[in-house]
This record gives sequence, structure tokens and C-alpha cells, in this order.
Amino acid sequence: MTGIHIPVLAGELIELLDPQPGQVAVDCTFGGGGHARLIADRIGSSGTLIAIDRDPIAEQRFAELTAEVACATRFIRADFAQGLELLRDEGTRADAVYMDLGMSSMQVDTWERGFSYAYDAPLDMRMDPDQELSAHEVVNTWDERQLARLLKEYGEERYAGKIARAIVRTRQQTPIATTQELVEVLKSAIPTPAQFAGGHPAKRTFQAIRIAVNAELEQVDEGLPCAWEVLKEGGKLAAITFHSLEDRRVKRFLVARAQGCICPPDLPVCACGRTPEGELLTRRAIAPTPGEIAHNPRAKSAHLRGARKLKEIS
Ligand SMILES: C[S@@+](CC[C@H](N)C(=O)[O-])C[C@H]1O[C@@H](n2cnc3c(N)ncnc32)[C@H](O)[C@@H]1O
Repeated sequence: MTGIHIPVLAGELIELLDPQPGQVAVDCTFGGGGHARLIADRIGSSGTLIAIDRDPIAEQRFAELTAEVACATRFIRADFAQGLELLRDEGTRADAVYMDLGMSSMQVDTWERGFSYAYDAPLDMRMDPDQELSAHEVVNTWDERQLARLLKEYGEERYAGKIARAIVRTRQQTPIATTQELVEVLKSAIPTPAQFAGGHPAKRTFQAIRIAVNAELEQVDEGLPCAWEVLKEGGKLAAITFHSLEDRRVKRFLVARAQGCICPPDLPVCACGRTPEGELLTRRAIAPTPGEIAHNPRAKSAHLRGARKLKEIS
């Protein structure tokens, strides 16, 4: 059973990008196509929507959307770092490039894909089912130090060391094959009072493993520069993130584009000659309203940031 994905910060994203008839837009994380549909309606029959996603379910949804919208459409099934590189190398130039990071409701609700600690399913968590690395491999083959580091860095898990030790001890007897087997191991490692504080005890571990399986942070680091290159002068880049590890990367990238002179402050005149190649469209990240969170709890941790490209740097 796959649920409908409610697009997060949709009104805010449209307001920020302000798509116009005839424009070219690139949706780097098509998912259920919620944002893409709104963009398609704005760019109209003379516009072009290019969608990227690594999940075949998204490709199916895209086929449905194509039949319903007036603009020209194209789907690239790839990770977005690769898809954007392809567009850049082809010479495609867009008025808007945007990404809505993380997983879709369709992925979480397709229980057998193992994204959720709420259902028992094989340990998988691959957004692209054709890739080799899965959660099963991470949990059953990474050594204790790697696991502890992963849980600490990507999950900000306080009991990372204890959990890593419990995982390794358990799998020495028998491999950890399912999400619920992993949840039981986590519960055995986390002190009982802590299991009832700060959300589900498996939340942080599952997030960390999913980030590693899908190389999510590497994708952001590689994808943002390509996205910027794909933009025309005057084009806009926007990203919706769901945790601080992503948001920090997006913020750092956009702020660097908007930075001008980098000379030491004590130099009387500018020697670097650097002028900003972009301007921030969001000084602070835009967060969802309480109304949106009440309607769609998934939106709770969302942050939207964006910038406009002012000039090409050759
Ligand atoms: C949060 S959902 C996007 C939802 C979409 N904006 C909507 O309104 O329906 C994220 C989607 O991006 C895809 N995705 C995440 N990271 C990706 C990456 N690095 N490359 C390609 N697709 C990615 C996932 O497979 C998922 O379908």
C-alpha cells in the first residue's frame, strides 16, 4: 500500500521560485510529484519540466503526471548528482532547480522496503532498488567502530557506542535480518528511561542508516554545485531539508555563492576583486507553519532555503 505524498512547504516553494509561463524547471527529487504538479501548472504549455529521481516508483508517478500536464516533460532516473551533471554537460539551462530531500511517503509506506521502524520488513532502505549497498549490509558487515561513528554523526545518537556493540554481539549469533530484529537490539542497548524520551528509540538509528545507504550527504555536496551550474543567470535554486546535517550543507553552499569580497578586513582596498555570484532569497530558513505541521506531521523539521544566480563564473 503506498500513501499519497503531501508536498511540504509547497506554497512557500512556489512563492520563492515564482515560476513563469515558458520557463524550464528541474525537480531533482520528483517523488510523488506534488511540487512538480504545481510548477507544471505555472510554467504552462510553453514550459519544460525535467524531473529526476532514483526510485522506479517515482518514474511510474511521473508517467501519470505527464498525461495530465500541458508542459513538455522529461524524466531522468538517476541520483540527482548524476542527473544534474548530465543536464549540465548537455548544455541544459534552467530557470529553477529545486530539491526536496529525504524519503517520500510512498517509500515509507511501502513497508517491504524497510524504511520504517513501524513495520517488520527486511532491512533494505535503498531508494534505488538496483544499487548494491542496503541496510542489511551496513548492519551486518560494518565493524563496531564504523557503526558507532555512523550512529553518532548521522543520527546524533547518544547511545551510539552501546548500540554498535549490541549490533555486533547479536549478529555474531545470527544475522540481523529485519527492521523489528534491529529495533529489539536497539531497545536492549538503550537504557529504559531514554526509550521513552525524544521520540521512538529507533528513530535516530534508522535515520543514520538510511543516510549512509543512500549516500544522502554526498549527494547534497555533489549535487548543489551542479545544480548551480545548470541555472541560467537570474535562475533560482531552492532546497527543502529535513535535518541539520543537510540544512547546514545547503546554507553553507548558498551563503558562499552570495559572498563578495573575501579580503581580510584590515586591507584598505579590495584585492580579491570577487563579487557575489548569487543573492540569498532566504536570510533565514523558512519553516512550516503550525497549521501545516498539524495537517502533515512530516513537515515538522523542514527548512526551505534559496538563492538567485546573478552571473556565471567561468
Ligand atoms: C521527499 S520526496 C520528494 C517529494 C516530492 N517533492 C513531492 O512533492 O511529491 C524525496 C524523493 O527524492 C528522491 N531522492 C532523494 N534523494 C535523491 C537523490 N540523491 N537522487 C535522486 N532522487 C533522490 C527519493 O527517491 C524520493 O522519491
